Amino acid sequence: MKKIAGSLITGYLFRICQYENNSMKTIIRTKIVDVLQCKDYGATVHLKGWVRTRRGNKQVGFIALNDGSTIKNVQIVVNIETFAEKILKAITTGACIGVNGILTESPGQEQNAEIQAKEIHIYGTADPAAYPLQKKGHTLEFLREIAHLRPRTNTFGAIFRIRHHMAIAIHRFFHERGFFYFHTPIITGSDCEGAGQMFQVTTLNLCDPKKDRNGSIDYACDFFGKPTNLTVSGQLEGELAAMALGAIYTFGPTFRAENSYTPRHLAEFWMIEPEVAFNEIEENMQLAEDFIKYCVRWALDNCMDDIEFLNNMFDKELIERLYFVLKQNFIRLTYTEGIQILEDAVAKGHAFEFPVHWGADLAAEHERYLVEDHFKCPVILTDYPKEIKSFYMKQNEDGKTVRAMDVLFPKIGEIIGGSQREEDHDKLLKRAQEMDVPTKDIWWYLDTRRFGTAPHSGFGLGFERLLLFVTGMANIRDVIPFPRTPNNAEF
Ligand code: 4AD
Ligand code: MG
Repeated sequence: MKKIAGSLITGYLFRICQYENNSMKTIIRTKIVDVLQCKDYGATVHLKGWVRTRRGNKQVGFIALNDGSTIKNVQIVVNIETFAEKILKAITTGACIGVNGILTESPGQEQNAEIQAKEIHIYGTADPAAYPLQKKGHTLEFLREIAHLRPRTNTFGAIFRIRHHMAIAIHRFFHERGFFYFHTPIITGSDCEGAGQMFQVTTLNLCDPKKDRNGSIDYACDFFGKPTNLTVSGQLEGELAAMALGAIYTFGPTFRAENSYTPRHLAEFWMIEPEVAFNEIEENMQLAEDFIKYCVRWALDNCMDDIEFLNNMFDKELIERLYFVLKQNFIRLTYTEGIQILEDAVAKGHAFEFPVHWGADLAAEHERYLVEDHFKCPVILTDYPKEIKSFYMKQNEDGKTVRAMDVLFPKIGEIIGGSQREEDHDKLLKRAQEMDVPTKDIWWYLDTRRFGTAPHSGFGLGFERLLLFVTGMANIRDVIPFPRTPNNAEF
């Protein structure tokens, strides 16, 4: 076997080999990302991918081939005379082909290398009359309706490659800092956020569920012998782990049945939740800031081709904004100070849709005013009124506020929500009771405060909100492969 070209670009050696008998079948496929960097002109390469476009004349054809390994296409040059009519006809946008050819230096400005096709194999045709992704641009709304095909577009290829890289960055960040990845359950009998937005999980016959003597549904007959839901957060179980392993993070799907049809909400989204023993709110804020910056830096270092594409297509300030966030120290202020700024804005004539007063929950418009208009910088707001935050947050001495922290970002609003946790058993129990949290369901959570309790803190980063920021996309449905929103569970 003779090795005729090789490269180690994507971290895995993709060999281009040719066996003594010159059999084409024995040439190993090369990814386009590697071929585009290879300068081994004259080498035989074997590529497989999907036709993006085809142009040319009666003598020569040019195929733009993409295999998903990079946003860039490789140009395949086809000498029309040497190929059968049947093959040529099948090379249309969307078709899947394999090409054996010679890597040559390209005379064109667009690319360094191109492939002179010697053999073409058609794996799958795509009838131009039926294939929905034609060369003309499509709206993002239309592409959502064909989510099974949209990964084949430049835009969604870029987004999903970035999504992968962000997941890698997240694991690396925590691993490098000695955090342990801890898996928390998806099906749960408790409600972490207590906001009553859970999807029920049941095997009961919904048409005729068994009733108990009082006429209520008899959950003893249900699969788990009690009512269960899809989790809204892994935090409560994450806290248990932090009390043993010291520093953990979760990274998994979470579910919220909130009926908010906004560009920032999904019914199924992914959340990253670190939880750290002995961290107080200041350290929690620093961890959140370091974490986001690490992810943004990773994107700039590893996904520039894709980010540049999105910058040019959708958001001309994207790259600038990413570098900007890296340079800034996030502004830290209390909710009370934030409300003061918003009230001053109203006094000066700024109109908000939702009312601003101490005690009110902040809407995205308020968060974005603070970040985009007032500070022009990411903001961490702390010490919110206890009435608008969850039962588990550490209570401040003023009796009115809790040690909550929300990280607010340009274009997004809230990207992270977290807090120092109440570590005092009696205070925690009292607050849970005041907020009507069914304490019998969380006896195990309360137990951690009975046995070796410790100060601790954590937060949750919405993965898709991070992706909105890093990709510059405006709608959260466009940064997850198959979005789940009210009335939408197709694909
Ligand atoms: O602020 P949230 O509700 O906090 C928690 O769930 C805590 N238990 C986290 C913790 O302290 N461990 O949600 C955290 C983040 C939000 O800041 C937001 O980025 C994202 O999760 N998020 C959503 N993302 C998409 N769609 C939704 N419906 C979301 N709800 C929250
Ligand atoms: Mg929140």
